[in-house]
Amino acid sequence: MSIKKHHVKSKLAVAYQLLHTPEVSVHIPETELFYKKSFKQMIKKHSKVYLKPDRGRKSRGVLRVERLKGNRFKIRSGSRSKYVNHKYIWTKVNHMIKDKRYIIQQAIDSVTKDGRHFDLRCHLVRIHGKWKVCGICGRLGERGSVVTTSHLGGTPTSVEKLFFRHLNYSRRKKEKMIKILEKCAVEAVNNVSRMYPNLKEFAVDMGIDTKSRVWIYEVNIEPLTKGNFGKLPDRTLYRKIKKMRKMAR
Ligand SMILES: Nc1ncnc2c1ncn2[C@@H]1O[C@H](COP(=O)(O)OP(=O)(O)O)[C@@H](O)[C@H]1O
Ligand SMILES: [Mg+2]
Repeated sequence: MSIKKHHVKSKLAVAYQLLHTPEVSVHIPETELFYKKSFKQMIKKHSKVYLKPDRGRKSRGVLRVERLKGNRFKIRSGSRSKYVNHKYIWTKVNHMIKDKRYIIQQAIDSVTKDGRHFDLRCHLVRIHGKWKVCGICGRLGERGSVVTTSHLGGTPTSVEKLFFRHLNYSRRKKEKMIKILEKCAVEAVNNVSRMYPNLKEFAVDMGIDTKSRVWIYEVNIEPLTKGNFGKLPDRTLYRKIKKMRKMAR
């Protein structure tokens, strides 16, 4: 068996670890194992939640549930939506999840000025025992979609384009935000890497809410780069990551 197969991925275990890490806990959305009681409590408290397979990747099986006025709920997956009355919401969602182990997470409003969902991916490698940021890229969701992966219509975008064109940031705000994102990613990985001491690279998926607060959605173990950095029009960052990966091995 390859070493890779020993690395059991669990979004919940990672989120719990980070929720108990003082330096990063403020950046972690409330996260629980999905079951009837946690669903009812979280949707009441936050109005919008994400449901994600605990061991999922590439946004497969991700749902977003929103509580609307008049006892109605909106369930969205990718670009599709359904409206459900409160009486049937648990049965419907539970049916969509099909007995898989899921987590439920507070939804973050990480949207561009024209309402598209976006997030950021920060790739890190360990070189001589220290975690280094190789680069950050933005990912813009397809209009109307609740996820950003390129496999589901999202567009990898440079941070410059994301910040200047889609979020109207000034140069100063962009620099400041990049520092915050990098610090947050390094602190998260410093901690999560203790759960996976053999791994030499991680990628952190992050959002920025409408009050410019940074949130971590997940820390990816064994991250891929083709579908994100590899799809940026400028290949410089992709090549840089490839080079740094080699140095980490
Ligand atoms: N709590 C959240 N709030 C807002 N968007 C989220 C949240 N969690 C996930 N997303 C969106 O869904 C995508 C997939 O979720 P993620 O946790 O990264 O799982 P996966 O392993 O499938 O990539 C993210 O890239 C992001 O666009
Ligand atoms: Mg992800």
